[in-house]
Amino acid sequence: MEKKFLYEGKAKIVYATENPDEVVVYYKDAATAFDGKKKGEIENKGYLNAQISAYIFKYLEKQGIKTHFLELVGEREQRVKRLSIIPVEVVVRNIAAGSLSKRLGLPEGTDLPFPVVELYYKNDELGDPMINHYHVQALNLATPEEIKYMEDTALKVNSLLKEFFDSLNILLVDFKLEFGRFKKEILLGDEISPDTCRFWDKDTREKLDKDRFRRDLGGVTEAYAEILKRIKEKAE
Ligand code: C5P
Repeated sequence: MEKKFLYEGKAKIVYATENPDEVVVYYKDAATAFDGKKKGEIENKGYLNAQISAYIFKYLEKQGIKTHFLELVGEREQRVKRLSIIPVEVVVRNIAAGSLSKRLGLPEGTDLPFPVVELYYKNDELGDPMINHYHVQALNLATPEEIKYMEDTALKVNSLLKEFFDSLNILLVDFKLEFGRFKKEILLGDEISPDTCRFWDKDTREKLDKDRFRRDLGGVTEAYAEILKRIKEKAE
């Protein structure tokens, strides 16, 4: 397959293909945190996240969620539909952690009474500030219908993935989704992986996600590999 470099992000490289409606996404080992202020490498992360993300997209598609995912190509690449990304990140939280704990003073690990949805403006220069529906309209980032679809879909994804990961003895603490426009549709895009979700072991509450990198806890690759191992065991 002929590939032409399109652009490089913090964790992925995107290539154009012969089909103008499709791109190939290469998952890198590079890792960043705190708006790119912390930089590093997580050995084998590209492979692990490409595989984990592919499993999750396939699972969601089977459950009726429309995603950009088409197929895994080799170990670290995915062929996906070419989206025009909507610059609004949708975060869903089941348990307080990270920026929510900091902002609201809720101790990490506090169960939330219902899933909490948050919106962030995807803008590196501004450090992805949190926004609300008014800001989305004022900045003309998406229509009210689009935002409603994104929030409803994010809550559906939360129900599906909470149950799925529960069956792997993993708590889905929170996660971030990105959506994009494709022809007349809105599709779930980007990736769903330990880079974009918080996963805790249900028995030990051990962190199995990027917080191990953010907080220098060690065992980062091992944690990502554990997620892939449990998914694969379930798929077999
Ligand atoms: O940092 P915060 O607690 O707001 O993150 C909430 C969730 O969203 C976490 O699972 C985190 O990994 C994810 N996230 C992300 N990309 C960002 C911000 C947060 O994947 N730019």
